[in-house]
Amino acid sequence: MKLCMIGTGYVGLVSGVCFSDLGNQVICVDKDLTKIKKLQRGIIPIFEPGLDELVKRNVRNKRLVFSNDLKNSVKKSDIIFICVGTPTKKGGSNADLSQIYGVAKELSKSLNKFKIIITKSTVPVTTGDEIEKILLKNNSKNKFSVVSNPEFLREGEAIRDFIYPDRVVVGSNDKKSNKILKNLYSPLITKGAKYVPTSRRAAELIKYASNAFLATKITFINEIANLCEKTNINIDDISIGMGLDQRIGSRFLRAGPAYGGSCFPKDTKAITSTADKFKINLSVIKSVIKSNENRSKLLLKRVYEILKNKIKNKRISFLGVTFKANTDDMRDSSSLKMIPELSKKGAIVKYFDPTGYKIEFKKFKNVQYAKSLSTCLDKADLIIIHTEWNDFKSIDFKKIIKNKKTLIFDMRNLYSPQIMTKNKLNYFSVGRGLK
Ligand code: UDX
Repeated sequence: MKLCMIGTGYVGLVSGVCFSDLGNQVICVDKDLTKIKKLQRGIIPIFEPGLDELVKRNVRNKRLVFSNDLKNSVKKSDIIFICVGTPTKKGGSNADLSQIYGVAKELSKSLNKFKIIITKSTVPVTTGDEIEKILLKNNSKNKFSVVSNPEFLREGEAIRDFIYPDRVVVGSNDKKSNKILKNLYSPLITKGAKYVPTSRRAAELIKYASNAFLATKITFINEIANLCEKTNINIDDISIGMGLDQRIGSRFLRAGPAYGGSCFPKDTKAITSTADKFKINLSVIKSVIKSNENRSKLLLKRVYEILKNKIKNKRISFLGVTFKANTDDMRDSSSLKMIPELSKKGAIVKYFDPTGYKIEFKKFKNVQYAKSLSTCLDKADLIIIHTEWNDFKSIDFKKIIKNKKTLIFDMRNLYSPQIMTKNKLNYFSVGRGLK
């Protein structure tokens, strides 16, 4: 099939490349010419394991091209995926849909034959209705069909998530496009993905409800971890004990720092503000947002306790600053709250991240990037494990740490408290008693 992906951000690029790998003819379009030129030269703008090889292979096989010419790319294609950003509006909680509607306006002038227009971006319920209205201004009803087909890709695991999804949700109000999309996804359906055809509005809401639910699960276990700290219980036992109940499930029950990234913080806010518009109070999700916002303060409080409130001139080494492992994404990472606060209190912060230097900390004069793990750990008073990269899972602290007084605060519970204590290391973690 002939596909056009509008927007070569995370969603558009990964989906476009994967669709081409399934044998489709794909044009990835972006108005950012510099980005397109780089992609044409094989330079990938995002960090996603395995993506560059997939791009190279499909460009070589002539199934994948990059262009900044939206009009012509749309004319050549049968299925158009809108994959532009829907960030939170400045100073509010609503999703900013200006890019979506901007694309819809351009599309409305380029429909030379019947096309399926799909929102893959996360859009609030009823956005598809609005896109339809825009397209109807210049086109008759039989020229197009507007469909919602949300993505559920995790950064760092996106290619695997695309090829082996739990489900493919297609929200369409007509049978024709539903049939075409089922056909497009048939290679994944034969591998076991469940195909879920729904109304367009339902598909839009499934995406938000799923992300809000996962954010709730994480926040829930983080709060239970707080109780475990006071009652000397190991949160890992609770996660295992709860997760084995199939109604609950074991995933997304890992206690740690506040959830971050490009989706959960944005989508939890957007779903509550959409509901507010319909005079529905999503009070559970609202309290999840509050609890998560408070999480970094709470973990900082623990840092202060661990350092006995003596922060000034303390050498603090941060391991990992991205919001999770296997990504270079800093969006809404809890390190953005914690590091500036520690620096304000006079700590000397060094950080190491496998994805390198971060511009976000440039303005803090006592925050420094360390080029290697060992230079980061050198002479630290406190080591904070912030992100769960594999590189940090088997550090020989006993060998590396020269100063016997160095403290370790493992915010991801990567190490066993028993083994760390046996090795005479001053180890603290999350939700496993206070020590
Ligand atoms: C998420 C959704 O999982 C994906 O389906 C959607 O399409 C986009 O948003 P992503 O933002 O890439 O994906 O990250 P994810 O792996 O879901 O993690 C989100 C946050 O939750 C991270 O900060 C992570 O550290 C945190 N998390 C996750 C936990 O704290 N505990 C867990 O058990 C799981």
